[in-house]
Amino acid sequence: MFNFHYRLERNAIGFVLAIIVVASIGGFIEIAPLFTIDETVEKAPDMRVYTPLEVAGRNIYIREGCYACHSQMIRTLRDEVERYGPYSLAVESKYDHPMLWGSKRTGPDLARVGGKYSDDWMTAHLNNPRDVVPESNMPAYRWLLRNQLETGDLGEHLAALRAVGVPYTDDMIANAPKDAVGQANPDTDLATGVLERYGEKTDVSLFDGNQGSVTEMDALVAYLQVLGHLTDAAHTTPQNEVE
Ligand code: HEC
Repeated sequence: MFNFHYRLERNAIGFVLAIIVVASIGGFIEIAPLFTIDETVEKAPDMRVYTPLEVAGRNIYIREGCYACHSQMIRTLRDEVERYGPYSLAVESKYDHPMLWGSKRTGPDLARVGGKYSDDWMTAHLNNPRDVVPESNMPAYRWLLRNQLETGDLGEHLAALRAVGVPYTDDMIANAPKDAVGQANPDTDLATGVLERYGEKTDVSLFDGNQGSVTEMDALVAYLQVLGHLTDAAHTTPQNEVE
């Protein structure tokens, strides 16, 4: 055996061929699951796209590095399902470019945090976590309430996402800045447009508590509140029984 390797290393072409064979086996094993991607990704006809305000919130989540402490992927392990809820399905990340599964949990997983707390709680918590969770070591993000949200370029963000496969319509792209304002201002004409384009179940709310101006806090809270609610697939697909 050792003798064989000794001879192989002294034969340049043979060695290169052997490397190619071995590397291709590894490569094939990595690529093979993609052949069955259609069966791997569940069907979820009720899956909706992120609204412009939620896209803006997601961009802020990335900008602030929330993924460094929070994952968005509940594994199939019993303790995770008991703590966080139904495990994450592939289809739930279908419109996530880039995906934000994360690999570190200094804080809890956020895949099902939407609706767990009120908008007021979320706003207070992001403004200063210790106001609501005294022992928290999460940083305070006070500027989110002060910063007005930049809405002018949201149409371009949606168009960029469409280029990588998210089914935004021309109507959604053209109305993106207005819809961002509408989603944070219930009982206005702009809010009606959001429900027409993104569905009646869309969460139209004051988010940061203030009517009128749209802040970065509005966007981030809107995004957190939709986590786990783009589709009901995880709640309706039978999961391994957990007693
Ligand atoms: C340094 C690590 C760290 C960073 C960065 C961080 N968090 Fe946290 N987060 C925590 C910890 C620890 C907790 C648990 C204590 C608490 O609730 O404050 C937490 C809790 C939360 C919760 C409540 C989760 C639950 O189920 O109770 C939310 C929501 C949240 N964080 C959102 C965010 C967002 C959004 C950002 C980025 C703007 C962020 N976090 C950045 C550490 C972090």
